Amino acid sequence: MIGYDSIRPILMRLDAETAHEQTLRMLSTVSRSRVLSALEHRILETKVPNLPVNVFGKRFRNPVGLAAGFDKNAVAYKSLSGIGFGFVELGTVTPEPQPGNPRKRLFRVSDDLAIINRLGFNSSGLKVFRRNLQTIQSTLESAVIGINIGKNTATPNDLAIRDYLLCLEEIYEYADYIAINVSSPNSPHLRELQSAANLDQLLDAIMRKGDDLAAATGQIVPIALKVSPDLDENSIVSIADIAQQKNISAIIATNTTVSRPDACTHPVYKESGGLSGKPLRDRSTQVIRNFAEASDHNIPIIGVGGIFSAEDAWNKLQAGASLIQIYSSLIYRGPSVVREIVVGISERANKFDDKDFGSALKLAWENHQAA
Ligand SMILES: Cc1cc2nc3c(=O)[nH]c(=O)nc-3n(C[C@H](O)[C@H](O)[C@H](O)COP(=O)(O)O)c2cc1C
Repeated sequence: MIGYDSIRPILMRLDAETAHEQTLRMLSTVSRSRVLSALEHRILETKVPNLPVNVFGKRFRNPVGLAAGFDKNAVAYKSLSGIGFGFVELGTVTPEPQPGNPRKRLFRVSDDLAIINRLGFNSSGLKVFRRNLQTIQSTLESAVIGINIGKNTATPNDLAIRDYLLCLEEIYEYADYIAINVSSPNSPHLRELQSAANLDQLLDAIMRKGDDLAAATGQIVPIALKVSPDLDENSIVSIADIAQQKNISAIIATNTTVSRPDACTHPVYKESGGLSGKPLRDRSTQVIRNFAEASDHNIPIIGVGGIFSAEDAWNKLQAGASLIQIYSSLIYRGPSVVREIVVGISERANKFDDKDFGSALKLAWENHQAA
């Protein structure tokens, strides 16, 4: 089996977006091939152990997911499930196809294990996304499918609801959960949808549509809200309140940040865009903690931002997350990071000491033990 260690130096020599495109092309080809069912049991490196967790009524074979933006057009789900993720969040998909921002728009700061992107929702659009979803045959043993939805750049914020509802309608039947993205920094004004008045209206419309779709399909699909790490504490309290009022199933914390590390000497930090990876880690953990406290641990949290190790993941779980996601560490460490994190969480959980944890994790853990 080819190890990522041998491919990594080649990919790192390529421009970051070219490397991503080639990786995705390979994963997409493997997804469409018959070799995969064999591969799925062998996994790219070593098999990821089962560590089942139940969150918002869904069973996850392990709590480590792939964050949105890696597979924006749902072309490689099978391979990504084969890598051993407990869940894979596809998208962000926008209603109409759009190219995103001009290249070059994706940068690595390898020394800091960081990435800056200003892709700006490059998307093949709903039609292609839906066609790709139709080819997926997931089973109870595969990764849970999350679908992350957004709005087109050309759609002004006062018409944004229409875009989200269009997406919801088209992908509802294929999703195990849906993530509402109002937090990407690269789509102009998108993050203004996180203001109390805008969010109240948006979530109201989305949850109503969700109810209609549930009635029509006989299938209740949990709806999660993905938030920015650049929110202040008051905004976090107000978003947590609104999310609870609207019965949102989970908060995904966090997206990339527009801030830069205090001591950042690398010239790439001058590029505009969202920063992810190691420099985001502690801020995202703080936002998770703030959301857990603001919601009295009543909303499950998916923790994401700068997770490179089991220790990083465990800190997110302790801060109040029930599940975690990675993106940047997959780029820098390769697929074996999934197994490493799952094994490390499992080892730590065996020493589980009740009093140190938030109720969200306790709940996840009790469910895990009962599963
Ligand atoms: C290249 C790139 C593209 C991304 N695209 C999206 C996206 O389309 N939608 C979204 O919600 N988040 C997107 N993200 C944010 C990630 O899902 C994640 O929230 C963020 O990178 C923090 O996790 P990490 O530090 O493990 O990378 C993207 C991140 C990167 C690096």
